[in-house]
Amino acid sequence: MAARVGLVTRLPLCPQGRARFLGSLCRHLSHSGAAVLRREEATAVCAELDLQETTKKKTFSEMQKERREQAQRSILISCPKKIPEKKLLKHLCQHGDITNHFFFESFGLHAVIEFSKKESIASLQDASFIPRGETEFPIPFKSRFFHLNLKNPSNQTSDVQCSNQSSPLNANIIKALCNAESVENQINTLMKILQLTEENIRLRYLTCSLIEDIAAAYFPSCTIKPFGSSVNTFGKLGCDLDMFLDLDDIGKNSTTKTEGSFLMEYQVKNVPSERWATQKILGVIGECLDNFGPGCVSVQKILNARCPLVRFSHQASGFQCDLTANNRIAMKSSELLYIYGSLDSRVRALAFSVRCWARQQSLTSSIPGSWLTNFSLTIMVIFFLQKRSPPVIPSLDSLKNLADVKDKCIIDNNDCTFVSNLDRIKPSENTETVDTLLCQFFEYFGNFPFNKNSINIRKGKEQNKPDSSPIYIQNPFEISLNISRNVNESQLERFVHLARESAWILQENKGQSSKTSTEPWGLAALLLPSVPNKSKAKKAGRGQTSEAVKKLLESIKAESTKDPRATRKKTTISTQS
Ligand code: CTP
Ligand code: MG
Repeated sequence: MAARVGLVTRLPLCPQGRARFLGSLCRHLSHSGAAVLRREEATAVCAELDLQETTKKKTFSEMQKERREQAQRSILISCPKKIPEKKLLKHLCQHGDITNHFFFESFGLHAVIEFSKKESIASLQDASFIPRGETEFPIPFKSRFFHLNLKNPSNQTSDVQCSNQSSPLNANIIKALCNAESVENQINTLMKILQLTEENIRLRYLTCSLIEDIAAAYFPSCTIKPFGSSVNTFGKLGCDLDMFLDLDDIGKNSTTKTEGSFLMEYQVKNVPSERWATQKILGVIGECLDNFGPGCVSVQKILNARCPLVRFSHQASGFQCDLTANNRIAMKSSELLYIYGSLDSRVRALAFSVRCWARQQSLTSSIPGSWLTNFSLTIMVIFFLQKRSPPVIPSLDSLKNLADVKDKCIIDNNDCTFVSNLDRIKPSENTETVDTLLCQFFEYFGNFPFNKNSINIRKGKEQNKPDSSPIYIQNPFEISLNISRNVNESQLERFVHLARESAWILQENKGQSSKTSTEPWGLAALLLPSVPNKSKAKKAGRGQTSEAVKKLLESIKAESTKDPRATRKKTTISTQS
């Protein structure tokens, strides 16, 4: 998404964006027929790409550490509608330097303020007070979530620009895709529109940090970290916020002291099992959030689930949150996905397209059920990319072979070892473009022998299916588990059918672009509420598009006849994010 303007800090263009652009250029150069530039020039571009890709990448834990530290220096403020930005900043500056800030809407106007030092927050807390309730009694909990009142609200004029935190309407996405120049451009446009913005990522870390403050009332050294799509590079605006309550660090800090003749241990309460402990801990934190958590509503304690959790809505940030504990493997799988997503720009591009396609076709849902999940789909994308010749990304076993001593990780007897340093992984020699890969993905899974083979990203090869589930995707770390165990036969059939239809549409649309098409084409055609059925579409001559689609087409045409150059300019795709 575009960086914010005005007084809001401009965010630097991310190096991956440039690398993506260069990567795409590099691949084009290596195609026959596209050798417009001389070989030396192509080599220079590829060398710059290599440099970009090898010098800038942070490990997952470095990234998490940096973001968490940034969140600990930040506060959230609920503001009145008319807020003079400059005056507010001047007021807050009395407590210390502000390094970043932005505004957003979620049940009213809110601001995120990042101070350069944590101490500034303590100073602001000292200068703030607990409000007196007129009809309700306030719980006196001093959090980093403030409420700002203006002494003379009517005199104020508002000059703030809000950062967008939600995904645009589907019709607008399709419109933007229709104006793109190629399927590859469409894929990049889709990512640009839907990927988490810098502000949204900051807000996710800040929300975890605010919840950590509350959990710390019981467990002062606990940490709460985001995992899942908020951090694995595949998150899209509006996705849930998975939180991991980590109590293990408490144990780690108390290394056994062997000096002298005494051995001191903490007196602890013993409970029947680890699961029981997790349920109880989440139970009290859930209770705390419900009773004392500012902005936490609809708190549900789902403690009997396979993975006990507390689900709640954080109104101020607008996130639907799932808090789990004792879930270290899920954190490791988030790290693994982060590695794959950061390795090659085509991984994210393909996973984004497939995830959006599946959502649009109701193959996935935010409600749990017998359908595919985004996690399963992402693993399928990874598997498909491992199977290309040459592979786009390495198998998990190859990543394990590149690991060093500090990467060694065993959780509950499961080997979760893999390399954390991205620089140690050799770039792929595969030069296929992302539009080819998208079409091939549908073709591949439209014809995959799900009845006899399982998907295994550890080996990067299909294996014999160990049981009769309709689809078997081996959990990368808990290798006896099938992550798609919930999927039933009819959901799998829908997936296969839609994959075949989509491969067919992409092949049929080959070479189409905004210049030649009058109806949604390429990726836009796949994101229409329902991919037209091939046979029906043929019979009906594609004339049976719904009213909504017709209206959309009319509005696209109307806009392009107004001023074609303006439309083109507005939607010209930049591969930088
Ligand atoms: N996870 C897992 N095994 C599963 C399901 C989930 O290890 N069977 C882990 C994965 O790391 C996943 C995370 O839990 O990324 C969060 O799960 P979920 O919220 O379902 O998936 P996300 O990847 O966050 O995708 P979404 O955007 O749909 O929330
Ligand atoms: Mg999630």
